[in-house]
Amino acid sequence: MIYKKLSNGVEIPMIGFGTFKIPNDQTAKAVKNAINAGYRHIDTAAIYRNEIGVGKGIKESHVAREEIFLTTKCWNDDQGYQKALDAFEQSCQRLQTNYIDLFLIHWPKPLNSETWKAFEELYQQGRIRAIGVSNFHQHHFEDLMKTAKIKPMINQVEYTPRLTQKPLKTFLETQGVAMESWSPLMRGKIADIELLQTLSKKYGKTVVQIVIRWNIDTGVIVIPKSVTSERIKENFDIFDFSLSLDDIEAINQLNKNARTGSDPDNFDF
Ligand SMILES: NC(=O)c1ccc[n+]([C@@H]2O[C@H](COP(=O)([O-])OP(=O)(O)OC[C@H]3O[C@@H](n4cnc5c(N)ncnc54)[C@H](OP(=O)(O)O)[C@@H]3O)[C@@H](O)[C@H]2O)c1
Repeated sequence: MIYKKLSNGVEIPMIGFGTFKIPNDQTAKAVKNAINAGYRHIDTAAIYRNEIGVGKGIKESHVAREEIFLTTKCWNDDQGYQKALDAFEQSCQRLQTNYIDLFLIHWPKPLNSETWKAFEELYQQGRIRAIGVSNFHQHHFEDLMKTAKIKPMINQVEYTPRLTQKPLKTFLETQGVAMESWSPLMRGKIADIELLQTLSKKYGKTVVQIVIRWNIDTGVIVIPKSVTSERIKENFDIFDFSLSLDDIEAINQLNKNARTGSDPDNFDF
């Protein structure tokens, strides 16, 4: 496993298992498959409506809870001090745990500084090992910092060869905030990119493995999702190679500032 040390010293596995769009009744099986394949980091969210399945999958895997890095997120309707505290407890209940490794504000709008106050308190009480945000542009981050006492440790954003987020990535690096990428496989569309097919032949790895490795080799935590057990294994089989600096740069050049998902400034609430 490759870990990244967060600003507070907590270590997060650089590859995790994404669970967006996995129906709750299929989630326990998928999570167990992932843990059996070696994943020790699971990403969910209250809005995915599969936290119960995630909790069940972790329990049934018989791997100790402390060995799993578990992320969940506070949904937009739960922004605000008391609502965020309540949402946290509800997520813990569904996940069958009394602590969360990483709790994220899912989207910056409506940005509510009281939400972050609740996060800071839960962090200081030891209920959350690391606190962070998701889908924050630099200006959202700067707004939050006007009232924050504790700087977010992670920003989870879309990051793909077509959306390399260079200015945001550089900003986060200067702030000591780790970047984590969602929809790293462009929800499956990554396979069409010609350069990645060439690199796939060169390294003897699949296009998806090349892209997962590009995330890790550029310092970005990555959380690919799959319900297919062969793909779950394939996506984790990325520890026996790394990309050359030239190939990393060639992938960086594929950037078109093109999003697969929503732009946080135009997200429809
Ligand atoms: N913070 C946020 O706002 C946010 C937003 C979106 C996502 N996320 C997180 O990021 C995770 C990943 O993003 P995502 O689920 O949107 O998309 P993704 O991981 O980019 O792509 C998932 C898709 O790729 C397919 N796939 C997976 N491995 C493959 C392989 N080896 N070969 C070919 N196809 C493969 C999957 O199919 P099968 O499942 O059918 O195998 C699925 O259709 C989410 O699950 C979620 O945890 C967070």
